Amino acid sequence: MILVVGSNKGGSGKTTLATNLAVALSQRNLKVCLVDADPQGSAMYWSGVRDSTPASSIGTMMRRGNLVDPLRVLDQQHQIVIVDVPGRNSQELLSAAIVADVLIAPHACSQLDLETLQELEEQVRHVRQMNPRLRVLIYQALATTNPALRNRERGDFRDYVSTFESFELAKSIGYQRLVYRECISAGTGVVETANSHAANEISNLLDEVLHG
Ligand SMILES: Nc1ncnc2c1ncn2[C@@H]1O[C@H](COP(=O)(O)OP(=O)(O)OP(=O)(O)O)[C@@H](O)[C@H]1O
Ligand SMILES: [Mg+2]
Repeated sequence: MILVVGSNKGGSGKTTLATNLAVALSQRNLKVCLVDADPQGSAMYWSGVRDSTPASSIGTMMRRGNLVDPLRVLDQQHQIVIVDVPGRNSQELLSAAIVADVLIAPHACSQLDLETLQELEEQVRHVRQMNPRLRVLIYQALATTNPALRNRERGDFRDYVSTFESFELAKSIGYQRLVYRECISAGTGVVETANSHAANEISNLLDEVLHG
């Protein structure tokens, strides 16, 4: 199974999500590999930090350009391949989507983030000519934890996503939490921390991705 974490917006939480999903999958005893297709190399950096700790290693590799063939090969060798792709109409995003089972697209609930969904819809229309089964999950990331605001924010996000027929709205939500930042610096995943709120967020998303 190939899971691509991608969107056309920088800083929407792609790398954070990709690394956290990789740890959660490996904790479920699935043979997982993480592909860093972003020249920034943030996922590789995270993995390097992890390798300097006692935590179990997550096989991570850099791949650039057209990912169709490299991902097919990795898919044969692993149960789950997670791909962190660079934003904005990159060759990596488009080629990975051609062979992906699921594209998980994290977006914050902000006008500038959500406006990029139109471009994503266009890309998905093209990709589905080659990969008609591609599932596209729009994941609300960096959500506010402020109880006075969060329901309204969720409502706005849901309403906007529902105007796109080609997308599925992920039921699970990723909130803005310090622990996500700490985990990137520590080479860990939130499922390995005592923060059960964050751990449940990742776990719930994973259930949705794996079991529909
Ligand atoms: N759930 C979260 N809570 C708090 N901070 C977060 C969360 N997710 C991501 N961040 C922070 O937001 C910033 C952007 O996150 P990240 O690097 O994962 O995004 P990205 O989409 O991969 O960015 P880029 O487009 O540069 O690759 C980072 O500083 C990260 O620590
Ligand atoms: Mg990134």
